[in-house]
Amino acid sequence: MTDPVVEQTVSGHARLERNVTLLGIGAFITVAIGGIVEIAPLFWIDNTIEEVEGMRPYTPLEQAGRDIYIREGCYTCHSQMIRPFRDEVERYGHYSLAAESMYDHPFQWGSKRTGPDLARVGGRYSDEWHVQHLTNPQSVVPQSIMPQYGFLTDTSLTIADPAAMLEALAIVGVPYTETDIENAAQDLLAQGDPDVAEGDLAERYPGAQSRDYDGNPDRLTEMDALVAYLQMLGTLVDVNSAAAQEELATETGR
Ligand code: HEC
Repeated sequence: MTDPVVEQTVSGHARLERNVTLLGIGAFITVAIGGIVEIAPLFWIDNTIEEVEGMRPYTPLEQAGRDIYIREGCYTCHSQMIRPFRDEVERYGHYSLAAESMYDHPFQWGSKRTGPDLARVGGRYSDEWHVQHLTNPQSVVPQSIMPQYGFLTDTSLTIADPAAMLEALAIVGVPYTETDIENAAQDLLAQGDPDVAEGDLAERYPGAQSRDYDGNPDRLTEMDALVAYLQMLGTLVDVNSAAAQEELATETGR
């Protein structure tokens, strides 16, 4: 004789299986539980990326360089994300941390490496090397297939409204302060022109390097901005510092 409880359960389930509407509702509820568990926490936390020491929004000059990088399509050949594999870490340096691209709009991780990864190219070469390489890549790497960008040296950097550039980024969550936005035009000039007073640029943007980048101190060019951007890449976070170690620990679950 069958147990009446078992019989009841089986017939209940049989009804569920044979009624497509009931089955649909049942399946929806089951899948929704899985979804809610993953999605609901995102409504209560502000940010999924842990902050690490040293990471800061880009200076107006670096941001302008970044915009040129995107405009010229550098990302079609270069990635900016070092993956945690031994070959990559040995070639490019410590693998990229999530926080290192937290102020990137849009991010430049990339999916194609015709050229090398640039996530930690900052400080690897001199400014002169970059200017020479961007002007004529084949003059430093004869077999290079990288296009020539010499025109950047001849093009004055013109940003219609530097404050608006930062304001737009602030809207999408980059923590530029009122002072940063007010001083945007001044900061832009000051970082690339040694003759312009720097003010408190270095305090608001720790680690910002102010100098003439393109070898022509008389004029602020697109080359100044692009090289300033390249020289900053991957240099903001000391990956061996305690804070970075902490993020590492959470990332690897240790
Ligand atoms: C058609 C593909 C292509 C495009 C587009 C391109 N590059 Fe390259 N890039 C390369 C290749 C290939 C190399 C390696 C050979 C060399 O150093 O020239 C390279 C090397 C580099 C290096 C040296 C990296 C290192 O670690 O040695 C830098 C810096 C660089 N590119 C920056 C840029 C920038 C900035 C742009 C956009 C203005 C750009 N590239 C556009 C293909 C490209």
